[in-house]
Amino acid sequence: MSQITQTSQKIDIRPLFGLGHVPSPVYLDGYAEPGPDTPEGSADYVWQRGHIQDMVTFFRSGEIALQAIGHAGTGKSSFIEEFHNRLNLPLYTYNAHPRTEAGDLIGKYAPTPSGGLVFVFGPVARAAMEGRSVLIDEYNVIDPGEATGLNALLEGRSVFIPEIGDWIRPKPGFRIFTTINPRTVGYVGRNTQDAANDDRFRFMYFDYMPEDQEISLIKSVLLSAGMKDEATAISTATCYREVAAAVRKAYMGVSDDAAALDVTLSTRSLVRWAKYAMACAGVSNSGFGPVHYALERSKTLKASPETRMAIHEMVHQVFGEEYRTPLTQSLTA
Ligand SMILES: Nc1ncnc2c1ncn2[C@@H]1O[C@H](COP(=O)(O)OP(=O)(O)O)[C@@H](O)[C@H]1O
Ligand SMILES: [Mg+2]
Repeated sequence: MSQITQTSQKIDIRPLFGLGHVPSPVYLDGYAEPGPDTPEGSADYVWQRGHIQDMVTFFRSGEIALQAIGHAGTGKSSFIEEFHNRLNLPLYTYNAHPRTEAGDLIGKYAPTPSGGLVFVFGPVARAAMEGRSVLIDEYNVIDPGEATGLNALLEGRSVFIPEIGDWIRPKPGFRIFTTINPRTVGYVGRNTQDAANDDRFRFMYFDYMPEDQEISLIKSVLLSAGMKDEATAISTATCYREVAAAVRKAYMGVSDDAAALDVTLSTRSLVRWAKYAMACAGVSNSGFGPVHYALERSKTLKASPETRMAIHEMVHQVFGEEYRTPLTQSLTA
């Protein structure tokens, strides 16, 4: 935990989020410099206007809680982090798990080295007391009964902490962000939260990136990974996106087809796959296909054999690269 020593100021966010087309200033509170708890940002980050609009209206509404919903790797956590980064705002992050209890988020007794016990505030209580943001990632793996312990704080109301005999009184600037995956096939152990808990959130939906933006992102990744020629980077990035679009359509989370795929390709998977294929270019010297080789290692070795063959066939069609890797070699040997 660190104190904020700077004074917040009104910042025109248009240059920060690529909003050059907006005629008049759009002000939000932020800081001139990053602090120790300001998340890292990425120069390759691509802003989507709809998301910025959701966030600006949320920040201005005075509401406390926002929930980002979307498939894995669609950019929920990174959007919240990048947004805080550009405004130099601090953000506490907590990665939820099925055994997360209300006490982990608000506060509980923890052992001291001398064998005693000390009450330690959790990230949500700290954010409330310090008037800053907290992100709870994978919120819907938390047991609904435990999440209910946050209900008062989700509205910005004070809560009494019996262990310390005092109240937590949220300060202005306190905001809770949560991310969840939809309750479709492919995610394990996602709970439906209690309606009273759900009722306290504003929701925001993350879909896969629009085609032109995702191609532009993959192009930047390929160029940063050493691809020399911009035109080749664009055409290669277009191939990655084409495969991703086909896989996403056939994924069992969205397709009812009996032959639906059991894995999908998120933006995160695409970035990793493209980077890895660049790093694996040398396997072509052994007669293997680097794009397939990288895809196996970043995704499909974990999929069912049917899904793996179907996805690699798509790659073959789109990239024109034969599916030849040590795995296929051993299967046909
Ligand atoms: N708008 C974006 N611009 C650039 N990269 C992105 C964007 N959205 C997602 N990514 C890439 O996808 C990865 C996964 O995003 P993340 O926010 O962790 O997904 P989620 O929280 O939805 O699972 C990021 O680390 C980044 O590489
Ligand atoms: Mg996430």
